[in-house]
Amino acid sequence: MSGRRILLTGASGLLGRTIAPLLSSEGRLESPGLERFDLKRVETIHETVAAVRPDLVVHLAAETRVDVCETEPAEAYRVNTLGTIHLAEACRRAGARLVMMSTDYVFDGKSREPYREHQPTAPCNRYGRSKEEAERACRTIVADSLVVRSSSLFGGPGPHFVASIRRAVREGRPLRVVDDQIQSPTWVGHLAPPLARAALGDLHGILHLSAEGECSWFAFARAILEEEGIEAECTPISSRASGRAAPRPAYSVLDGELALSFGLELPDWREGLRRHLEETG
Ligand SMILES: NC(=O)c1ccc[n+]([C@@H]2O[C@H](COP(=O)([O-])OP(=O)(O)OC[C@H]3O[C@@H](n4cnc5c(N)ncnc54)[C@H](OP(=O)(O)O)[C@@H]3O)[C@@H](O)[C@H]2O)c1
Repeated sequence: MSGRRILLTGASGLLGRTIAPLLSSEGRLESPGLERFDLKRVETIHETVAAVRPDLVVHLAAETRVDVCETEPAEAYRVNTLGTIHLAEACRRAGARLVMMSTDYVFDGKSREPYREHQPTAPCNRYGRSKEEAERACRTIVADSLVVRSSSLFGGPGPHFVASIRRAVREGRPLRVVDDQIQSPTWVGHLAPPLARAALGDLHGILHLSAEGECSWFAFARAILEEEGIEAECTPISSRASGRAAPRPAYSVLDGELALSFGLELPDWREGLRRHLEETG
């Protein structure tokens, strides 16, 4: 195991910063920056994979700004889909296992029960579509591949939802938060260990890994204020009133039963929130 060569993409991101130390203790980790690995410059993808000759690629890099993907769909496709297709091709050539991070936004949001791995995808926005196509590319191009879907990540300094709420409170700005989108906010500190275990193991196909429990963004904001002991007004609003460029699924909770059957379990989102607040002070 210790001789294993691991290539991590998106190491500077929210999840990447948390998982990198876990992966580096299991092998020789390479986590190139944009100058050596840019999903928009496909030659850098092939060059880096050829140079590193990884046994395992953990692919986190993506354009994750959902509204930017909506207004710039060609860029979203170029980074998230086309970049992943080239990475998958490079992995196939190198004989590397590919583990790709994906999202609850591949689902349409019409369910009222947690989505299982095998349920049909039907994204309602461009970001979801770009990730759905990337998932398909990974699974069809690389035999030894795993797609891991998660939801609403937070952790570290940000940017993420918890950091935005705290900043708005500090700056005395009014809180108006969407109350008609239900998901499972997932602390990266809880996600990284089971994700690393799944990546380093030999699971194939699709796996859902997100925090236990569910809430609306409004309920999440209220919980942040409660945990911080802050008295601040917080107004629930509809998705329509939020004026965001991209539509979001109304319900995108992921079922964690399959992960649990492999001994991979995440605590409740509220516990993740407490841990995050403890850590960031
Ligand atoms: N955030 C969420 O709520 C969420 C929810 C479910 C699933 N996911 C998935 O989880 C993964 C990690 O998300 P995250 O929140 O940690 O992402 P993030 O914080 O937005 O970080 C994105 C990472 O991708 C890199 N990147 C962006 N454009 C790139 C390009 N053209 N070429 C190479 N690298 C590029 C960034 O590098 P720079 O720092 O150099 O820009 C950064 O390291 C993503 O695949 C995302 O789709 C995220």
